[in-house]
Amino acid sequence: MCGIVGYIGHRPAYQVLMQGLKQLEYRGYDSAGVALLNSTMTLFKKKGKVSQLEDFIGDQKLTATAGMGHTRWATHGEPNDINAHPHVSNNGNLVMIHNGIIENYSVLKEALLRNGFTFKSETDTEVFLNLIEAFQDKENLDLPEALSLALDKVVGAYAIVIADKRNPDVLVAARKQSPLVVGMGENEYFIGSDATPIVRYTNKVIYMKDDEIAILDRHNGVTIKNSKNQVQKPRIEEISLKIEELEKGGYEHFMLKEIHQQPQTVSDCMRGRLNDVEGWVKLGGMEEYAVQFENAQRIIIAGCGTSWHAGLIGEYLFEDLARVPVEVEYASELRYRNPVIREGDIVMAISQSGETADTLAALEHVKSKGAIIYGVVNAVGSSIARLTDAGSYIHSGPEIGVASTKAFTGQVTLLSMAALWLGHRKGTLSHSRYRNLISELAKIPEQIAETLKVEDQIKYIASEMTDYNNSLYLGRGYNFPVALEGALKLKEISYIHAEGYPAAEMKHGPIALIDEHMPVVVLATNQSAYDKLLSNIMEVKARKGTVIAIVSNGAKEIRKFADHVIEIPTTAEPFSPLLSVIPTQLLSYHIARLRGCNVDQPRNLAKSVTVE
Ligand code: AGP
Repeated sequence: MCGIVGYIGHRPAYQVLMQGLKQLEYRGYDSAGVALLNSTMTLFKKKGKVSQLEDFIGDQKLTATAGMGHTRWATHGEPNDINAHPHVSNNGNLVMIHNGIIENYSVLKEALLRNGFTFKSETDTEVFLNLIEAFQDKENLDLPEALSLALDKVVGAYAIVIADKRNPDVLVAARKQSPLVVGMGENEYFIGSDATPIVRYTNKVIYMKDDEIAILDRHNGVTIKNSKNQVQKPRIEEISLKIEELEKGGYEHFMLKEIHQQPQTVSDCMRGRLNDVEGWVKLGGMEEYAVQFENAQRIIIAGCGTSWHAGLIGEYLFEDLARVPVEVEYASELRYRNPVIREGDIVMAISQSGETADTLAALEHVKSKGAIIYGVVNAVGSSIARLTDAGSYIHSGPEIGVASTKAFTGQVTLLSMAALWLGHRKGTLSHSRYRNLISELAKIPEQIAETLKVEDQIKYIASEMTDYNNSLYLGRGYNFPVALEGALKLKEISYIHAEGYPAAEMKHGPIALIDEHMPVVVLATNQSAYDKLLSNIMEVKARKGTVIAIVSNGAKEIRKFADHVIEIPTTAEPFSPLLSVIPTQLLSYHIARLRGCNVDQPRNLAKSVTVE
């Protein structure tokens, strides 16, 4: 995700843009830039936060009353000054900012290179921009017409603001699958990724729809057109949200916002990688090392915390679907226990931030022993991403809440696709099972959306759990790592001591803990272990424990024994963590909130542990 802001009107644009970028910085913060338009175009852009851009610009007098600004969350091309937005087209006339992913940018880039275009950056945005220039020059079109033709050629998600320095009285915007809001002031117009940079000037907004183009003209006002170039009646709405709420998109905490973003972020992770219609999974990074993956005698997965839990699910996935031995290691242990690393071993590093010191150090250690390092990372261009031989970004966007939620489901989605890809390639997955699992995985985003509907029930359960000081989470098979993750979520934001266990382990000790003061969350969505989990629930009830069972829709038997039953959609067992984790995220959030904890910044924790 990136933050986009544009302005045209009577004020000095620079102040409006910088204020707006600071409001949007939660959407991305690895580099930032502004372009100002009057008789000339002035552009500043830099790696780093918005404040570093501001320092770089200093107290220059900038009087232009039109311009655009961008704060980046890199998807293509690592964070640096050149890849920062805005970008300028080949002939220097057009300037553009972009939020989204152009999936077919490499094909478009090859065609433009053949037509004499050159590129300064590694971004998909610059390709998109030069395609617009190509249409404008070839057909001698005005900017909206050239943009409209280019939009027919690009595949992917975009929210853009573009301008032609030869006509500084007009900004043009377009959106598809990435949000854009137009602000309607008095003879001044705004554009933003959300209303955050706009509401301090006007509460009159237009929420652009997919495939629409907006023309913000200093003299003629705002015109909205659809993909057929037909003028649309502006749908002006009045919003009452306060600034601070808008930064969280109307949610009370970033964590809750990120929990609810998961249908979109899981879909973003799959975009261009999983095709249910044609029946394929493609991961560019793994294709590069296809032979090494196929011949690997084992895969080592390394990570910390939630990323380690995702890695444990990866073990179950790769062994189940691709029949390759996997070892999951806490990165901090891997780096110090003098492990046996053989030539040809593949080490997969799982990390949201890409900056975790233990994981980074473990990778440097195994790399020195000759292992191939594959990254499953969220932060583009991060240290871990740069250290790996290849990798796949999970495209979850910036995760602000310290407790990881959408990054976890992004990691597990990526690992699910990786195991499918490898199983198919090695022939350990029949074609029919491969196709069936692709269809099951493709349904997960909408099933997550469906699962989120249990929130009201979770709120009630949470209200009954706020005074407990301990909790157990039990799961079997694919849900054992989810039990660990659910317990981590609860302990790190509510400070309740929680432990995750394989359900069958109860009788080997933990059952001694069960009494009326011990709530037990049982993850019982896997069909293959349902009866055994039912027995585990009965064991807990026999000792007066409180049971919260998370089950697949239609599971009736458990209702006779559990105190609370949370029903969620059914999916193929390998993908059940992507759904069963959602109620545990919501439960930990609502318990912590009721306990008055600082949900987004829990005590003693940091979002990225960059020290040992
Ligand atoms: C997760 O909720 C925690 N905040 C923490 O365990 C985190 O997963 C761990 O520090 C690893 O971080 P990384 O994914 O950025 O490497």
